[in-house]
Amino acid sequence: MLNPADQHSTREEVRRFMADHWREPGFTCPNATTYPWLWLWDSCFHAIVWARLGERDRAISELRSALSRQGPNGFVAHLVYFDGFDGHDSFWGADRTSSITQPPIYGHSIAELVRMGVDVPDELVESATRGLQFLLERRVRTGSGLIGIVHPWESGCDNSPRWDDLFVDNDHGTATEEPYARGIDSAVDPLESVDAAKAVDGFDPQRWYRRKGEMVESIIRDEGEPVDSKGFLVGSVAFNALVAFCAFELAEVTADSELKKQAQEVAAVLATRWSGDYRTWTDDGATAAGSARVRTLEALLPVLVEGRPHVVDEVAAQLTEAGEFAGRYGLRQVHPCEPSFDPLGYWRGASWPQLNYLFGVALDRTGHHEHASLLRSASSLGAARSCFSEYWDADSAVGGGAGPQSWSGLPMV
Ligand code: DGY
Repeated sequence: MLNPADQHSTREEVRRFMADHWREPGFTCPNATTYPWLWLWDSCFHAIVWARLGERDRAISELRSALSRQGPNGFVAHLVYFDGFDGHDSFWGADRTSSITQPPIYGHSIAELVRMGVDVPDELVESATRGLQFLLERRVRTGSGLIGIVHPWESGCDNSPRWDDLFVDNDHGTATEEPYARGIDSAVDPLESVDAAKAVDGFDPQRWYRRKGEMVESIIRDEGEPVDSKGFLVGSVAFNALVAFCAFELAEVTADSELKKQAQEVAAVLATRWSGDYRTWTDDGATAAGSARVRTLEALLPVLVEGRPHVVDEVAAQLTEAGEFAGRYGLRQVHPCEPSFDPLGYWRGASWPQLNYLFGVALDRTGHHEHASLLRSASSLGAARSCFSEYWDADSAVGGGAGPQSWSGLPMV
């Protein structure tokens, strides 16, 4: 636990680097070099950080920027290039935005701001509702009824072992490398820290990165919005949990009974995906027969909308026991018994501040307040000791990826 003087100075440090990362027309980039543009779920977390720092105008502006380029039926892109950069336009097939989304954390951010007494403008609440409606009503569903994601990047958990079944070589390797490379003109690819990942258990980050380029080409659009895919469709329990949770959160603010009903329906489908044998929720779709069962932390996010006590208790044990996901400096993103576990790997096992934050919310929601507060302390130590890295080793706090990363401010405020 940080002492009060350290807490104050780290809070001020967060304010400093967040302010350094502030960009026109009013948002925080995740990192000045590696991630210079607006990323959707990052910005939603940044809005919470700004509000807790007492900078309410910036919190609202962050959400306004994140939702400003919404599609005709509510789709919200995960990346916006506000600086006019057009080098990725042909890759995405879009005008200075990406053509995929990320978890709709804006529903939770708005609810959290409202709980803090921030006056959230109606038009933002309406945009957020439309964003959720796009996912709930227009996105293709998998066989079990989960909302499909059309690209692994949509989950936010880019290199998670949950996608390993899709990590297959095919005949198109060279063909897909070319358009992807065309979109990127710097030595360090700012779409993600691909260099930070290394090969463990046969995982090859460079090949996986090329596969993800191919998957963008497979997306099926309707009125420019991504609704389905010819090549990748997964009912990610992590993504669905965040949709349901954020829809519940927003419905609470607006008393929208239809949105609440839709959230309940997704939560009911999620309940059917819990496996006592595998001790996790399992994904549906392209990976269902294999990597859908790998024990990752994000796959426990359905606990945010779970009501069955025996399931909640099982998950709480996994979140709090050292041989399971709990590390000294936060939660490991992959269970240490998994062959793919890499303690400092990019979405292969390191601790992430935004996941620690969400599981703090989940532990509080399920009445495990003491564990929630221990997790927040562990995560804030990890953030501070890793010099505010994008992610860190849950046992040593050695930092990985970019730094300082704006969302590492989450546990400090
Ligand atoms: C990403 O790379 O997807 C992140 O959201 C940036 O932090």
